[in-house]
Amino acid sequence: MNDKELVANAALDYVKDKMIVGLGTGTTANYFIDALAKKIKSEKLTISVVASSTVSQERGNQAGINYISIDQVESIDLYVDGADEITEGLVLLKGRGYDLIKEKLLAASSKKFIVIGDKSKIVAKIGEKFSIPIEITPIAWKITKKILEKMSEECILRQNTAGDAYAITSYGNLVLDCRFKYDDIHELSKMISEVPGVFEHGIFLSLSDIAIIADNGKIRTITTNC
Ligand code: 5RP
Repeated sequence: MNDKELVANAALDYVKDKMIVGLGTGTTANYFIDALAKKIKSEKLTISVVASSTVSQERGNQAGINYISIDQVESIDLYVDGADEITEGLVLLKGRGYDLIKEKLLAASSKKFIVIGDKSKIVAKIGEKFSIPIEITPIAWKITKKILEKMSEECILRQNTAGDAYAITSYGNLVLDCRFKYDDIHELSKMISEVPGVFEHGIFLSLSDIAIIADNGKIRTITTNC
């Protein structure tokens, strides 16, 4: 079992019968979706899922897991997802998939949010390895981009994986990937949120309860104090 698979399987311990579980997006989250589907079948559990993206929705569907649309839930029991960066203080950077709005809604509405990843995801400071994804409205994207450019070192309009068009989120929005110099991540998060045209960004503050991290087959957990 590789490290991503290991953490995905470790997160299964938190799944209990009759839960509504949020499905994450990405290679690590995919391992969780597959493992969850097996657990539901083998233990004959009644689990419903809400997906953070069309990709994870489809993966869940194909595995035959009962699906609820996000507009039908007020809260969920458990959300398991990967991240691009994780600090020891459980600040996360997410959003290499495009659906920041759904990912943050699931994180904020879950009774428990478990982030899973291998050791490569641990950073001292958010933004160390990746730019910060920012989901913006397409209606006046140049205005929003210009404002964010003034606040940052670099802001690039994200392209799709084929590189032949701009990336479009499930809600028809665009994504900017911006690099900032900053001292306080809370201030940066607030500053980005206040820019007109910004819907959501990839900094997740005080949302995750537990991180399960694997390093060459060894698992450790990071938890918040509360
Ligand atoms: C998607 C995310 C992913 O969780 C993040 O990109 C990690 O992906 P992977 O598990 O493939 O490394 O935030 O928006």
